[in-house]
Amino acid sequence: MADTAKSAKLTIGEQSYDLPIYSPTVGPDVLDIRKLYGQAGVFTYDPGFTSTASCDSTITFIDGDEGILLHRGYPIDQLASKSHYLEVCYLLMYGELPTAAELEEFENTITRHTMIHEQMHNFFRGFRRDAHPMATMVGVVGAMSAFYHDSTDISDPRQREIASHRLIAKMPTIAAMAYKYSIGQPFVYPRNDLDYAANFLHMCFSVPAEKYEVNPILARAMDRIFTLHADHEQNASTSTVRLASSSGANPFACIAAGIACLWGPAHGGANQACLEMLKEIGSVDRIPEFIARAKDKNDPFRLMGFGHRVYKNRDPRATVMKQSADEVLDLLGVENNPILQVAKELEKQALEDPYFIDKKLFPNVDFYSGIILEAMGFPTSMFTPIFALSRTVGWVSQWKEQLADPQHKIGRPRQLYLGSALRDYTDIESR
Ligand code: SDX
Repeated sequence: MADTAKSAKLTIGEQSYDLPIYSPTVGPDVLDIRKLYGQAGVFTYDPGFTSTASCDSTITFIDGDEGILLHRGYPIDQLASKSHYLEVCYLLMYGELPTAAELEEFENTITRHTMIHEQMHNFFRGFRRDAHPMATMVGVVGAMSAFYHDSTDISDPRQREIASHRLIAKMPTIAAMAYKYSIGQPFVYPRNDLDYAANFLHMCFSVPAEKYEVNPILARAMDRIFTLHADHEQNASTSTVRLASSSGANPFACIAAGIACLWGPAHGGANQACLEMLKEIGSVDRIPEFIARAKDKNDPFRLMGFGHRVYKNRDPRATVMKQSADEVLDLLGVENNPILQVAKELEKQALEDPYFIDKKLFPNVDFYSGIILEAMGFPTSMFTPIFALSRTVGWVSQWKEQLADPQHKIGRPRQLYLGSALRDYTDIESR
């Protein structure tokens, strides 16, 4: 824990309480209120956790005002341009960039965990063909605990590491199988001669009837999308994983809970919702109509892919994603993609509008990702599964960090109770 030399004084009525202040490596100080209820008999109130630090962590740092995202201190734009996803996975899990030997060993380990138990194939066949792939992923990942018992003892660091490797390795296989099942095509097994991103594209797009060569440009773009989504400090789904883990639940159940939370359109489901919104807008001349709706308090419509709880400046991931969208669509010969034109004009008009300027609403990671994914051949229903696949390393890294902390305890928030005070039961005859 950081230095506790400083403290804040809270006065309630005639009583004053000293609250220790901890200063982080970078970012805002925190007030330690753990003893507040015991000392003062009051709770703090922060629905949505807008001002609450739920843990300490050394993995990811976000400066929302400066638009900075660091993974173990390394800025996301450098990792996206100079590193690759499995190296970023190593960095997030172990805290340092690997040597060549460490990276080779890690990549070999992940590669050899990519197949799933053959009996798990039956799970997919229990779903309707038109099930959303996220429903399938929640179910199949939760079921992994029924097949990988030898990595569910969370008190054993080696089992925690094996479970982490299995989840990182098998998520692309599960996501690809969910996709194949939804389109009625046969499952494609992973191949050890392909790298992580190329393997995923091969499992999604190859068919037994003909040879499929992975386009290296698309594989590089896919790998970059994985990297941009890898971790993001204590977002809703990561907090869900931490809370589930705090009860001692097995790793597969915790990650299934994270997948379920990510599915929401306010979170990881925004990439699918954003592309559907851009298609509904359809042309640049309809943009003012949708911007007006987004500003109308009586209209529940929001600009999908815009705004963020933490970023009050540009989301650095969106900047990289926008560059990648231009590159990939150029290389695919769809640079005049009408949806990309709508997205760019929508961003331009929104960023010139006082409503968005005053509320500090900028494009987030989900604004451009769907355009790339659709150009790569994915249906919108696969956008959030790809986000879940990418974020698995963030979830397992934060899960491991929490379990390695001997101080960690079950998460159990309190409440501001506004219901009925004590009252006696009344028989139905007298109601
Ligand atoms: C992700 O937390 C993470 O780190 C998440 C994530 C990650 O990597 O894990 O970054 C991934 O989830 C990105 C966000 C994807 N979601 C969307 O793009 C959905 C659209 N965005 C909004 O739903 C919203 O911006 C949130 C949910 C992202 C953030 O919501 P907050 O922090 O609770 O902000 P808010 O709803 O209090 O908004 C502040 C104001 C409100 O107006 P007032 O009530 O103050 O008048 O801004 C308005 C909102 O109405 N507003 C929007 C808006 N987003 C916020 N108005 C129009 N369009 C929007 N998109």
